[in-house]
Amino acid sequence: MLLPFLLALFPFALGTPVIWDGRAPFNLTNEDLNSSIGPFLTVVKGSENATHYTSLHGHSLAPTPLWNQFLVLPTEQVISVSIDNTSIFVPGGGAPQYGFRRTDIIAANDGEHTALITEMENGTTVFHFSVMLDKDKPLNFNHEYQIVFIEPNDGSHVFGIQLGSPFTNPTGNLPAPNAHSFKVLDHALNVLFTTPFTADIWHNFAVQVDWTNRTLGVFYSKNAALLKPVTNLVQNPTAAEGVSGQGDFHFTVLKLPLVNPNDSPANQGDVVHYGIQEGSTEGLLYSGVFVESVVHELSIGGHSTTLPIS
Ligand SMILES: *[C@@H]1O[C@H](CO)[C@@H](O)[C@H](O)[C@H]1NC(C)=O
Ligand SMILES: *[C@@H]1O[C@H](CO)[C@@H](O)[C@H](O)[C@H]1NC(C)=O
Ligand SMILES: *[C@@H]1O[C@H](CO)[C@@H](O)[C@H](O)[C@H]1NC(C)=O
Ligand SMILES: *[C@@H]1O[C@H](CO)[C@@H](O)[C@H](O)[C@H]1NC(C)=O
Ligand SMILES: *[C@@H]1O[C@H](CO)[C@@H](O)[C@H](O)[C@H]1NC(C)=O
Ligand SMILES: *[C@@H]1O[C@H](CO)[C@@H](O)[C@H](O)[C@H]1NC(C)=O
Repeated sequence: MLLPFLLALFPFALGTPVIWDGRAPFNLTNEDLNSSIGPFLTVVKGSENATHYTSLHGHSLAPTPLWNQFLVLPTEQVISVSIDNTSIFVPGGGAPQYGFRRTDIIAANDGEHTALITEMENGTTVFHFSVMLDKDKPLNFNHEYQIVFIEPNDGSHVFGIQLGSPFTNPTGNLPAPNAHSFKVLDHALNVLFTTPFTADIWHNFAVQVDWTNRTLGVFYSKNAALLKPVTNLVQNPTAAEGVSGQGDFHFTVLKLPLVNPNDSPANQGDVVHYGIQEGSTEGLLYSGVFVESVVHELSIGGHSTTLPIS
């Protein structure tokens, strides 16, 4: 029995402290999702129950092999995130976001996310996530999607992952070049790394954030390949320092509109509240989502670690 022997050789331990683990355990249920019990806060969504937009796939879909070696005994289930025409979020006390369609999963511990933010965004921490295309719920690459980001209160993103055609007013030629590629953006929306969003494989990302010196570094790999650095250490100077630079860690399907020529010129650029949405059902698959603290090294899969980008 080769595999149990190997598993015994490499115990279930990561090299560095995991601060928050969003690799959905098999005991996490739809009821938990619906009521934000466990690692996911599921309140940023449309009018239906959370389970209408997010589902756990049990053993029916294989998660990224990066943290689930050989997939003999996966330790997590895939979670899908989707939107439809009901995915209009109404923020507390705010106007409905008719321009967006969105379902966000936010890192939390049984609904608590404020204290978690201060733990996740301290020193140097690494945000891990793996994404796969959901063939049953294809995206429309004529639109911009913001899929993973950390959002401080000013609505900016410390870093962000974008798919599709960036929103422009007026609308340019669609789809834009690179619409089918992931774009890793810094706070000022510079593209740090891009790679095609090919089907049938897990795209693994890790973004290293130094919260004191305000720098970023990006790692990437496919399926079981160990994460590799794909950028140098890059300055992220427009991100705010301290508490005002901290925010929730989201993984989502957030779809921006296209400009509606029938809207007033002033409203045509208001992507939150105005614009064209087709109302289609679209989604993404996620696994391997967690946050670790870099003490000396960070995890790159296969129970291996490496030094941070410096
Ligand atoms: C799942 O099981 C683990 C380990 O027994 C436990 O710590 C956790 O609270 C459980 N999660 C849920 C959502 O029941
Ligand atoms: C989902 O949670 C809400 C309250 O948050 C509750 O009213 C509703 O019955 C729950 N639905 C399911 C399917 O568990
Ligand atoms: C949420 O689920 C509960 C229990 O199944 C159901 O009674 C309620 O109508 C659902 N809410 C919506 C908005 O679908
Ligand atoms: C989608 O929802 C919007 C806002 O509620 C509505 O105006 C529009 O008619 C809907 N579109 C479709 C295709 O159902
Ligand atoms: C931030 O990191 C420092 C140094 O490791 C530690 O002493 C402190 O407790 C951390 N703060 C939080 C809120 O985790
Ligand atoms: C952060 O910046 C300080 C001051 O410039 C420097 O001494 C330190 O080496 C930097 N730390 C890292 C991890 O780059």
